[in-house]
Amino acid sequence: MKNVLVTGGAGFIGSNFVRYLLEVDQQVQIVNLDALTYAGSLENLKDLPDADRHTFVQGDICDRDLVRALLQKHQIDTIVHFAAESHVDRSILSPEPFIQANVIGTFTLLESARQYWMVEKSMPIEQVRFHHVSTDEVYGTLSPEDPAFSETTPYAPNSPYAASKASSDHLARSYNHTYQLPVTISNCSNNYGPRQFPEKLIPLIILNALTGKPLPVYGDGQQIRDWLYVTDHCEAIHLILTQGKSGETYNIGGNNQPANLTIVETVCDLLDELQPQTDPHRNLIKFVTDRPGHDRRYAMNISKIENELGWKPRHNLSDGLLDTAQWILANPSWVAAIQKQREYQTWLTKNYETREKSS
Ligand code: NAD
Ligand code: DAU
Repeated sequence: MKNVLVTGGAGFIGSNFVRYLLEVDQQVQIVNLDALTYAGSLENLKDLPDADRHTFVQGDICDRDLVRALLQKHQIDTIVHFAAESHVDRSILSPEPFIQANVIGTFTLLESARQYWMVEKSMPIEQVRFHHVSTDEVYGTLSPEDPAFSETTPYAPNSPYAASKASSDHLARSYNHTYQLPVTISNCSNNYGPRQFPEKLIPLIILNALTGKPLPVYGDGQQIRDWLYVTDHCEAIHLILTQGKSGETYNIGGNNQPANLTIVETVCDLLDELQPQTDPHRNLIKFVTDRPGHDRRYAMNISKIENELGWKPRHNLSDGLLDTAQWILANPSWVAAIQKQREYQTWLTKNYETREKSS
C-alpha cells in the first residue's frame, strides 16, 4: 500500500481514517477525493499529522474522467471507499441522491479501478486492493431473540439508504467474482466520535443539550444499535487492508448494544457532570414521531474479524461518549461552522418540525 485513494475523506469516518492512516503508516501517500457535500468539510482535515503526504481533491466519485485521471496521475494501488450519502432520515425524505452517490458512484469507482489495474495492467494485481466500506443496515432488522448478524446473514435492507448500500455491496462483490478485482468489503455498525455530523443521534443530542433544545427520541426509544468508536473502525479497516483476504467480507461492531433512550440518558448524565446546571439535561428529552420503517435492533457477530485478524473494539461506550462530548466542547469553531450552514438549519426544520409529540 503506497498510494491510496480515499473517497469521502472529508466526512466523519473518512477524515478519521485519513488521520489514522497517516499516523500508523509513515510511507503512505493519500489522495482524498470528496465532493464536499453538506456532510463533508475541510474543517475535518485541519491539523493532519504529516499533512504533506495528503492531497485533497474536491470532486464527485461519479465523475469517471476525474477518477481515471487521479488513478493514473497518482499511480493509485489502493482505494478505500467511504464516500456516500449516509443519513437514513434524509434517504426517506429524498432518496435519489443516495442512488446516485452510493450506487452509481461505487460502480464508477469499481469500473475505473478495473480499467486501470486489470485492462491497462498498470501494476501487479497482487499489489492492488479496493476496499468498500459498508454498513450493518444491509442485513435488515432483528427481533429480540434473533442471533446477531453474521457475514452470511441474507441481505434485507429496509430503508432507501440501506438498499443503496446493499446494491453497492453487490456490485463490489460481483467485480471480485467476475473479474477477480481484488476487493474486500466491511459491514460496520453505528459509529460515533469526533467530527460526526450533528444530524446523527449522538452529536445531535450533545449539541441540542448544550444549547437547551429538546432531545428528540423517535418512537419509544427502545430501538437498539451496536455502537463503535470511530477509531476502532479505522483500525479494523487498516487491518483488513493489510491482512484481510481478497474476496472476503468482514463484519465490524462494538459489542455495545444499549437502547437509544439509554444512550440519550447517558449523554445527559455525562453533560450534567461536564456542564453542571440546575435543571438536569434529561428534562429536555422529548419523544417524537417514529422514523418510517424504523429498524428495531442491530447486533453484529464479529467473531470472523476477531479470529482471523485479531481485531476487537478498544473503547467502551462510557469512555467513548466522554471523549466525544469533550471533543465537541473543545472545538467550538467546528460546531459554529456547521451551525452556520443554512442547509443544516433547513434540514433540522424539515426533519423535526413536522414530527408531532408522540407521548
Ligand atoms: P458522512 O456523511 O459523514 O461523510 C460522507 C462523505 O462523502 C462526505 O464528506 C461527503 O462530502 C462525501 N460524498 C458524498 N457523496 C459524494 C460523491 N458523490 N463524491 C464524492 N464524495 C462524496 O458519512 P460517514 O458517517 O463518514 O460514513 C462513511 C461511510 O461509512 C459511508 O459509506 C457509510 O455508508 C459507511 N458507514 C457509516 C457508518 C456510521 O455509523 N456513520 C457505519 C457503517 C458504515
Ligand atoms: O448502523 C450503521 C448506520 O448507522 C450507518 O450505516 C449510517 O450511515 C448511520 O447514519 C447510522 O444509521 P442510524 O439510522 O442507525 O443512525 P442515526 O444516528 O440516524 O440514528 C441512530 C438511532 O437513533 C436510530 O434508531 C434512530 C434514532 N434517532 C435518530 C435521530 C437522528 C432518534 O431517536 N432521534 C434522532 O433525532
